[in-house]
Amino acid sequence: MTKVRHMTGEDAAEVAALLAGSWERTYAPLIGAEKVADEVAGFTAERIAADLKRPHSEAFVALAEGGGISGYAYAIVEKGVLWLDRLHVRPDHQGSGAASALMSAVMINYLGEPSISLEVIEGNDRAIRFYEKNGFELAERKSACGSIQGVPTLVMRRPLPRA
Ligand SMILES: CC(C)(COP(=O)(O)OP(=O)(O)OC[C@H]1O[C@@H](n2cnc3c(N)ncnc32)[C@H](O)[C@@H]1OP(=O)(O)O)[C@@H](O)C(=O)NCCC(=O)NCCS
Repeated sequence: MTKVRHMTGEDAAEVAALLAGSWERTYAPLIGAEKVADEVAGFTAERIAADLKRPHSEAFVALAEGGGISGYAYAIVEKGVLWLDRLHVRPDHQGSGAASALMSAVMINYLGEPSISLEVIEGNDRAIRFYEKNGFELAERKSACGSIQGVPTLVMRRPLPRA
């Protein structure tokens, strides 16, 4: 059983490192090292800690049995839409249930919202498979992922259980 708890500011440096490594491994083969480097430069511990204070946001970490953080999820309601903005599990904990535990924590936290949406870059097949398994369906195709232009991206969405 993976243990999940709310992230605190004290986790920020470890989460920033996890996030940067995950972007480099996962996205460089899909969108190129240059675009990834631009994005990763913004993942400082200060920024990740500041994101905790954004209105209507929640962040969770999964805890590795041997100590340390094995995964991170960040969600936020923007303009009335709940977005799962970040979900990253350390490679040595993928396939362990950590991702599902983080997803459950987010969904339980936002009970009462009608649905949850996310963006995933086309070709990130493992993530897409994970989201499909968790009830997400294709809602829209876009040519940008967040602020990164020229990246074929899927918007996926699922309803949330009624509270
Ligand atoms: C996306 C992520 C959180 C999912 O967590 P996970 O622990 O890997 O997920 P699971 O192992 O439970 O599920 C992944 C599914 O993809 C399958 N899979 C594994 N490798 C795969 C691959 N190369 N291509 C397609 N599917 C793959 C798994 O078999 C599993 O499906 P199954 O349970 O039906 O067998 C994790 O892979 C991750 O952190 N990836 C890097 C960051 C990322 O891409 N985040 C998403 C941003 S949108």
